[in-house]
Amino acid sequence: MPNPKNPTFVPFFLLLVLANAALVMPKSTIEPCSNSDSCNALLGYTLYTDLKVSEVASLFQIDPISLLLTNAIDISYPDVENHILPAQLFLKIPISCSCVDGIRKSVSTRYKTRPSDTLPYIADSIYSGLVSSDQIREANSISDPSVLEVGQSLTVPLPCTCFNGTDNGLPAVYLSYVVRDVDTLAGIAGRYFTTITDLMNVNAMGSTQIAVGDILAVPLPACASTFPRYASDFGLIVPNGSYAITASHCVQCSCGPGNLNLYCMPSSLAVSCSSMQCRNSKLMLGNVTMQQSSGGCNVISCRYGGFVNGSIITALSTSLQPRCSGVQQFPPLVAPPTAVKRDSMFAPAPSPQLYGGGSLSPRSSVIPSSGSSTGSTTASGPAGSPSSDAHHMMSPPTAFSVALMLLTFGKLISTSL
Ligand SMILES: *[C@@H]1O[C@H](CO)[C@@H](O)[C@H](O)[C@H]1NC(C)=O
Ligand SMILES: *[C@@H]1O[C@H](CO)[C@@H](O)[C@H](O)[C@H]1NC(C)=O
Ligand SMILES: *[C@@H]1O[C@H](CO)[C@@H](O)[C@H](O)[C@H]1NC(C)=O
Ligand SMILES: *[C@@H]1O[C@H](CO)[C@@H](O)[C@H](O)[C@H]1NC(C)=O
Repeated sequence: MPNPKNPTFVPFFLLLVLANAALVMPKSTIEPCSNSDSCNALLGYTLYTDLKVSEVASLFQIDPISLLLTNAIDISYPDVENHILPAQLFLKIPISCSCVDGIRKSVSTRYKTRPSDTLPYIADSIYSGLVSSDQIREANSISDPSVLEVGQSLTVPLPCTCFNGTDNGLPAVYLSYVVRDVDTLAGIAGRYFTTITDLMNVNAMGSTQIAVGDILAVPLPACASTFPRYASDFGLIVPNGSYAITASHCVQCSCGPGNLNLYCMPSSLAVSCSSMQCRNSKLMLGNVTMQQSSGGCNVISCRYGGFVNGSIITALSTSLQPRCSGVQQFPPLVAPPTAVKRDSMFAPAPSPQLYGGGSLSPRSSVIPSSGSSTGSTTASGPAGSPSSDAHHMMSPPTAFSVALMLLTFGKLISTSL
């Protein structure tokens, strides 16, 4: 016997639950995945206190030189790894983005707890909102979050997306950006040279509304590499205006500002490196010769082709271009920051009570459990375009509670029938 009240009552109540949950829980963009490849992504990180370059790097278990070059910070300063970066500085953190339990996330970061750490402090301050205390709790099966042992090594699951390294068919690397109280969608789009429409598509948003703590995937135009799959730096992708170091610190690549062609050359750190000369030629990695002819400009370049079994692969390429271009342009480098510019400041500096970075244990491949794959309440984007293909914005705890509510209601309904 159908009860006429149920069909209206249940959806209305669920709507209330959804709306309520959406108001309370920050959302983050989730990319479903199926293959086991990892890809390159960025985290937008705001320093919670003054930290040395090496301390920020160890917080995420990454190479300090990569951290500096990703942010176009000049590495030629003496003792640059011990340079102290100011609290509230915003940095892009290069991370490897894996596929875990069917969604993209980064799980290579571990944090060793210190006295007076709490899960909210680790999540909101130390990792600047990139992770929630619930996610750390779930990833480490912590039953009682009020009891954290000092020196406990915690997996810190971090959000990342790759969307096949493209946005609207062009190479892009995705920045996981934590929304701050001063942000608007237009402001974020402007700052990262993208559009509101693009941000809404990428994040499957229904409106331009964003809330503090939401994590958006922001596509940054980038230079893609075409290294073979067996190269250890396969998939290298460098955002416009920055640098990357690869091949055991032997090769440095840059992207922009004039075009989005990856340009690689011997790095200034290169000490004991395999040959970087192109075979059967006098050209070194990065060297380009140009000769004007009646048909155009004959360009011969010695290009980097990836790091394979400890060897630097070089390839001589010749092409005919309409015109000879000028000398290679490089993205401008900045000096290691010592102060935070006014426009990137958004909150008073926290008290420096926990000065200094954690001593952290090395990489691990522990897979966190998370409620994030328990439900998909939002529709997937239209198929076909890589940038809007099957991803949605949701809050993992929200999805979980909705699933619970559904279960509970299913039971209520079936018992009332
Ligand atoms: C990913 O991008 C590559 C080219 O960069 C393309 O060949 C491939 O089909 C894309 N895969 C998907 C699933 O879109
Ligand atoms: C790359 O960055 C430069 C300098 O910031 C900018 O002028 C150029 O338009 C950017 N290119 C793209 C494709 O965004
Ligand atoms: C070739 O590249 C090397 C290493 O970057 C550089 O020192 C040299 O000046 C370049 N030569 C030419 C002709 O561009
Ligand atoms: C790398 O080295 C291993 C063993 O030394 C070899 O089996 C493999 O074919 C090499 N790979 C490439 C791409 O040369």
